[in-house]
Amino acid sequence: MAANDAGDTMPKPMFETAALVGTGVIGRSWSRVFVRGGCRVRLYDPDPEQAKRALRWFHEDVALDVREGLVTKDDEALWRDRVSAHADLREALTGAGYVQESGPERLDLKRAIYQTMDAAAEPDAILASSTSALDVNEFADRVKGGWRCITAHPVNPPHIVPLVEIQSSRVTKPEVQQKTVEFLAHCGQKPVVLKRYINGFLLNRIQAAVVREAFHLAESGVADAEAIDSVIKDGLALRWAFIGNFGANHLNAPEGIGQYFGRYADAYRSMIGDLNNEPPAFEKDMMSRIAREIGMGENEEDVKRMSQWRDRMIVRLKALKKDHPRP
Ligand SMILES: NC(=O)c1ccc[n+]([C@@H]2O[C@H](COP(=O)([O-])OP(=O)(O)OC[C@H]3O[C@@H](n4cnc5c(N)ncnc54)[C@H](O)[C@@H]3O)[C@@H](O)[C@H]2O)c1
Repeated sequence: MAANDAGDTMPKPMFETAALVGTGVIGRSWSRVFVRGGCRVRLYDPDPEQAKRALRWFHEDVALDVREGLVTKDDEALWRDRVSAHADLREALTGAGYVQESGPERLDLKRAIYQTMDAAAEPDAILASSTSALDVNEFADRVKGGWRCITAHPVNPPHIVPLVEIQSSRVTKPEVQQKTVEFLAHCGQKPVVLKRYINGFLLNRIQAAVVREAFHLAESGVADAEAIDSVIKDGLALRWAFIGNFGANHLNAPEGIGQYFGRYADAYRSMIGDLNNEPPAFEKDMMSRIAREIGMGENEEDVKRMSQWRDRMIVRLKALKKDHPRP
């Protein structure tokens, strides 16, 4: 049985125990994914206070879901029992069949962490990395157990947004990739496999294309930031959430994508040729202007409040998608 969003059943785990190495924003969120998949979850961070904070975050976040009616009281008790913080790496990795590394995004640190994890983990444990941009080949090549190293790049926060980008290294065994995909799907995620490394993987490249043009339009005064965001929220993303980009292209003409681009390829060529190639300056004043125009405060409390609302809405949208699969 696969995990469900409401979390009201306890699936049989594919791995009895999963371990998290690095328990910041991403690591702590993975704890909810793996517990949803039925695992016991061990949290390790070289800063033991951080692992304890992550455990507290887990308790508070599950309690919030109980208040929202998304998790039952029984599951809350069961889940609390399954997650623990550890000050010792070897202790955290003992018995773990799957390890998710979410340490800082620095190649030298990832290499060091992988050396340590490879030495301390169970001999057949999978060592997956949350890296947003690094090439797994750069650290898998240097450890004895390179065959079990793989990238599993989540979207923040992984327990809310299901997509995970999977990239194997040159030496990763095919069965490691297969098991990783199966395990993450079992935990309620949506893994997609890249056939080779590319800077930014798929998600951040597509996001970068949108960021580049959104900033260009705002900076050049074509429209204010709220109007530009409305194009996404009230236009493009409503379709994207159900059918994606190519799906949207396909449904834009009675006979599908071939007919659509038969009609509009010249217009797209002209617009693509017209796109600004300069990266945005990302100046502070511009950021403040954008925050003001989209009506969001820049202090931590406001950002937290909006993030919590976003997460609740995404959970509801996922439930809608699940209840209405594509025909
Ligand atoms: N934040 C995002 O939006 C996002 C999204 C997807 C992927 N990622 C990736 O996830 C990883 C973690 O990012 P984050 O945003 O959670 O960072 P973060 O700074 O919140 O957390 C990093 C954690 O790593 C710990 N750490 C430091 N040295 C370590 C070591 N040697 N071994 C193990 N842990 C160590 C820190 O104490 C900290 O708790 C990065 O690789 C990042 O690129 C981040």
